[in-house]
Amino acid sequence: MKFFIDTANLAQIEEAQALGVLDGVTTNPSLMAKEGITGKNNILKHYLDICNIVDGDVSAEVIATDFEGMIKEGEELADLHDQIVVKIPMTKDGIKACKYFSDKGIKTNVTLVFSAGQALLAAKAGATYVSPFLGRLDDISMDGLNLIEEIRLIYDNYAFETEILAASIRHTMHIVNCAKIGADVMTGPLSSITGLLKHPLTDSGLAQFLADHAKGNE
Ligand code: E4P
Repeated sequence: MKFFIDTANLAQIEEAQALGVLDGVTTNPSLMAKEGITGKNNILKHYLDICNIVDGDVSAEVIATDFEGMIKEGEELADLHDQIVVKIPMTKDGIKACKYFSDKGIKTNVTLVFSAGQALLAAKAGATYVSPFLGRLDDISMDGLNLIEEIRLIYDNYAFETEILAASIRHTMHIVNCAKIGADVMTGPLSSITGLLKHPLTDSGLAQFLADHAKGNE
């Protein structure tokens, strides 16, 4: 399972990279705004900064919602760095743009996916990644994990190469459950990743080992 971090915060990306388990980064317009990154040049520079920290794929989302606008913006993003993945919303024009980029060998991430049918369409259009938003479905009392299971079944039935990128991960157990059902990638906040480290028996066991070692070496 690949681990992506879902943030535009450079310090957090550096921390996750330093852990040695990071495979990529996803951003979205809200995450960029949260970091105060505004204006085209600053936004493009920020994507470059992220690419210079991590080795893997970096999803950069288009703002345009029409086909021509998405193509123009997406090509500019893809030209920026070979790690850039063009993130496209799950709309009619978005699917057309996905097919266009896929035919040109440009990586894509179809975002804001909330149904198995949308995921099927994204795979048909050649998406590199499809992003079902697990947490946002859970937020409205729908079963986000069930959606990922459905997409896994459909993609396996037809050997689609599109990778399932479990997005809108909110906590550590989301990651564990996504791993159990075979999501290819997860993207979540740093806290969801570092949460995987924690177990009280690890802490108490280590404290005991160190105390016994200290006694034996008095
Ligand atoms: C996915 O690529 C999105 O950036 C993200 O996972 C959305 O998460 P949220 O629902 O916590 O905003």
